[in-house]
Amino acid sequence: MKRLFLTSLILAAIIGNTNYVFSQTNDKHVFTIETNKIKAAIQPTMYGHFFEDINFGADGGLYAELIKNRSFEFPQHLMGWRTFGNVTLREDGPFERNPHYVRLSSPNHSQKHTGIENEGFFGIGLKADAAYRFSVWARGNGQKIRIELINNETMEESQVLTSKEITIDSPEWKKFEITLTSPATIDKARLRIFLTSKGDVDLEHVSLFPVDTWKGHKNGLRKDLAQALADTKPGVFRFPGGCIVEGTDLATRYNWKNSIGPVENRPCNENRWHYTFPHRFFPDYFQSYGMGFYELFLLAEEIGAEPLPVVNCGLACQFQNETMDAHVPVDQLDPYIQDALDLIEFANGDAESEWGKQRAEMGHPEPFNLKFIAIGNEQWGPEYPERLERFVKAIREQYPDIQIIGSSGPNSEGEDFDYLWPEMKRLKVDLVDEHFYRPESWFLAEGNRYDSYDRKGPKVFAGEYACHGANGKKWNHFHASLLEAAFMTGLERNADIVRMATYAPLLAHVEGWQWRPDLIWFDNLRSVRTCSYYVQQLYGTNRGTHVIPLTMDKQPVSGQAGQDGLFASAVWDEENQRYIIKVANTSDQPQALQLDFKGLKKDERLANGSAITFHSDDPDADNTLDNPHAIVPKESAIAIEGKTLVTTIHPMTFMVYRFTKEK
Ligand code: AHR
Repeated sequence: MKRLFLTSLILAAIIGNTNYVFSQTNDKHVFTIETNKIKAAIQPTMYGHFFEDINFGADGGLYAELIKNRSFEFPQHLMGWRTFGNVTLREDGPFERNPHYVRLSSPNHSQKHTGIENEGFFGIGLKADAAYRFSVWARGNGQKIRIELINNETMEESQVLTSKEITIDSPEWKKFEITLTSPATIDKARLRIFLTSKGDVDLEHVSLFPVDTWKGHKNGLRKDLAQALADTKPGVFRFPGGCIVEGTDLATRYNWKNSIGPVENRPCNENRWHYTFPHRFFPDYFQSYGMGFYELFLLAEEIGAEPLPVVNCGLACQFQNETMDAHVPVDQLDPYIQDALDLIEFANGDAESEWGKQRAEMGHPEPFNLKFIAIGNEQWGPEYPERLERFVKAIREQYPDIQIIGSSGPNSEGEDFDYLWPEMKRLKVDLVDEHFYRPESWFLAEGNRYDSYDRKGPKVFAGEYACHGANGKKWNHFHASLLEAAFMTGLERNADIVRMATYAPLLAHVEGWQWRPDLIWFDNLRSVRTCSYYVQQLYGTNRGTHVIPLTMDKQPVSGQAGQDGLFASAVWDEENQRYIIKVANTSDQPQALQLDFKGLKKDERLANGSAITFHSDDPDADNTLDNPHAIVPKESAIAIEGKTLVTTIHPMTFMVYRFTKEK
């Protein structure tokens, strides 16, 4: 064994990668699983999701609204709209924070038409026979408008898919609502509104939703995407960012108070991802806040995850603002701290409290049972702890049970990271958020990252991570997901200190992305779960309740030199009386394994064995919208001889083995 190890080291030195070495022998690797040593509890929050409105993840994505710029509040007020005939923009509408609206007036000539047409987000996706709820705030004196869903690309005689007329019979602003059923599946339809009678009619907050949303909510979410989130059994749901929490400047930071209450009066905010990468520029990307904090708390509840909101700490994006001028002076932080305290009251306060009342009025009198709050996103420098300290003091005083999450900066190591961790310990935050978008070599080397972490300080939240292929290989592909799976064995093995982990980013529109890889891709009608998604799902649905020791030659199996690219972890699932072993073979050689389950009592046996295999022959491939199930985990029964499983794990493969304990 020693000779083999030395050979590996020499080989590693030659090829410059200590983790990608594999022996050419077929030596069996003997794993010892100590079934009777039930170690740290694995938190229900261990695997979850991080949601940010990036890549058109909210408006144009998870938020099911189909109309872009529905309130005419983009800085170019008619962006996303085509007008024809006699249309004027006005700004004394019924909603204080969204004052713009349009007036449709009779055209000057009887043969001409007046109206507006919305292009949706990359078009409007319609499904055959599905119902769509159109609504509009309007005023008029009996004027008629005709609402049409049109297929702009049609070769048919008529562009019109379906239409209905509404009589605007209210001189005061009033909400009108109709349902339209699409006769066909069209991915890039449009909505057109004609004025069909004489006179003026005013229109504001023009909206179109599928009736069939997630859980049927009216201001609802896209069902396939929300279902995909639920299907990983997430334990935590971090929102709303990410960089959008910080804002390019403080004025454009995510302000949760603007994201609640009636949707018509939630002010439009810019979305920094519209211009962050000029090579992926989306001038029509704004935040409607239609899916605001209430909807996000509700979603967390409905997918069974603990909500984890992130609030601005008084610092705008530090990448974009090098001087302190853009930030809140420490002695003027109080309103920001108050926002954090009010948020806790919004989530947990009783229905009589100021902010709890707002939650109750929105439809949720019961508290959301918020347990965690993150202060700041990717912050650094002394300016961060200086501000965080004040938040910590105020939150501890008023809400001692709330767990506070601090930042370790944008990098997984280095100067900022080394400075911030001790600061987080000094401030006694409960968890520290670590972010790592790193290449293959990093994921291969970091399988033992948390083995040596200080157990006495704050716990770890791996709040944003993904394997970004080196040499420009930034697209989603199987190999990256395999390395994520391998690395995650180290999170799991260290579940006493790692309490949460969330891949990032979560969602991306195929026509509107700024950042990749991402967990789930979608277009206007379809979505696809990537290989990285399936890794998250395999962990989320096989979380277990407690860590149990798994070693090879008395060492954790973490892809270290001499371990043939193997990574592994073992957990006990108390509820299902099940042992779950996860093994990633990151090498390009098959590996013979012997799994010895030690410590079972004489009358105990292992039964109902199953093995889930996750593998792709093409490491560069992933699932696509056209072929969404190309690479999916496959489960089969597996027989075990007594308390030992002898098996071979194929090259580049992630395996999950499960056995129930029976008497
Ligand atoms: O996930 C994309 C971005 O990456 C997040 O907004 C930010 O926190 C990180 O830099």
